[in-house]
Amino acid sequence: MVLGRKESILVSGGAGFIGTHTVLQLLNAGFAVSVLDNLDNAVQESLDKVRELVGPQLSNNLHFHLGDITNLDDLEILFSQTKFDAVIHFAGLKAVGESVANPMRYFDNNLVGSINLYKVMAKYNCKKLVFSSSATVYGQPDKIPCVEDFELKAMNPYGRTKLFLEEIARDLHKADQKWRIILLRYFNPVGAHESGMLGEDPRGIPNNLMPYITQVAVGRLPELNVYGHDYPTPDGSAIRDYIHVMDLADGHVVALEKLLQHNDIGCVAYNLGTGRGTSVLEMVSAFEKASGKKLPIKLCPRRPGDATAVYASTYKAERELGWKAKYGIDEMCRDQWKWASQNPWGYRSKP
Ligand code: WQD
Repeated sequence: MVLGRKESILVSGGAGFIGTHTVLQLLNAGFAVSVLDNLDNAVQESLDKVRELVGPQLSNNLHFHLGDITNLDDLEILFSQTKFDAVIHFAGLKAVGESVANPMRYFDNNLVGSINLYKVMAKYNCKKLVFSSSATVYGQPDKIPCVEDFELKAMNPYGRTKLFLEEIARDLHKADQKWRIILLRYFNPVGAHESGMLGEDPRGIPNNLMPYITQVAVGRLPELNVYGHDYPTPDGSAIRDYIHVMDLADGHVVALEKLLQHNDIGCVAYNLGTGRGTSVLEMVSAFEKASGKKLPIKLCPRRPGDATAVYASTYKAERELGWKAKYGIDEMCRDQWKWASQNPWGYRSKP
């Protein structure tokens, strides 16, 4: 734990799942952190838990601002009050299915909101950015593991917003080399802080595998639909690169340190994954082992738009950031279960 650094970091979407875990690690690294969040898919109580975890001294370095990146006034007030050394930009909508049904909401929130943020950053001469990108920019890769210089080809409006925002970042840097930008492409974030006090707390019925499994295990949902059991994989279910959210959080701190300490960073993308693929059925087994619960499953047809197998090449992040994921599937399931069993309704009370 480092006390009293001077750098001040703005974290947009910092009350969310990945945001809170990253804010925790930023505070533990001694940064001053301001969180901007509209609480559309988060609750402020999650930041109270972060304060509890870091203790009274470091929690003085955490400031919360209710606001929205689509509101230029919110951003103007924030940047006029505080001189930020860098921004970690998480804020954005991220449900693939929802983006197909309502693309304009995604283009407005994710694209216009991010452009607003970048405009105000430039106005206040804050041009160091860590951007929350995603493996969805690879689309359905022709080969695996995914390497950062692969052709980018998103398959849904959500993924396209991430791809467009990567291109916008590259253009910003080309036009003005003072912009230093690191694009972090997450694979499948899961797990929770070891304390069981932070975790994924999606509103409504989860779209993603792990929060859905979790809600079956605590009895909020009756069974897990396994989408696809006829894939050309060892057990017929689809394969993904699941990464512990704490590994992801540490990856952001390392990327930020690199931006603050090096002037030669242009605009560069890194995969944040483990480099290992896990199938849906393997994940179910691992979670049953961690929770001691038998998970009822129903084998269903494939989900439209799903890829057979996606996992990361991790060499570039290892070589250039000195970052490598530490946790495996068992730790991910152990920590996810501790969070779920201690908070069966997330931060929200049972209706
Ligand atoms: C994983 C596997 C499903 C739910 C998406 C976004 C990506 C990132 C993570 C933001 C697939 C199967 C799922 C269920 C299932 N989000 N599954 N039953 O689709 O790999 O990635 O979320 O950055 O950008 O694209 O994650 O967890 O939805 O699915 O069988 O109830 O689990 O078919 O094979 P995905 P996922």
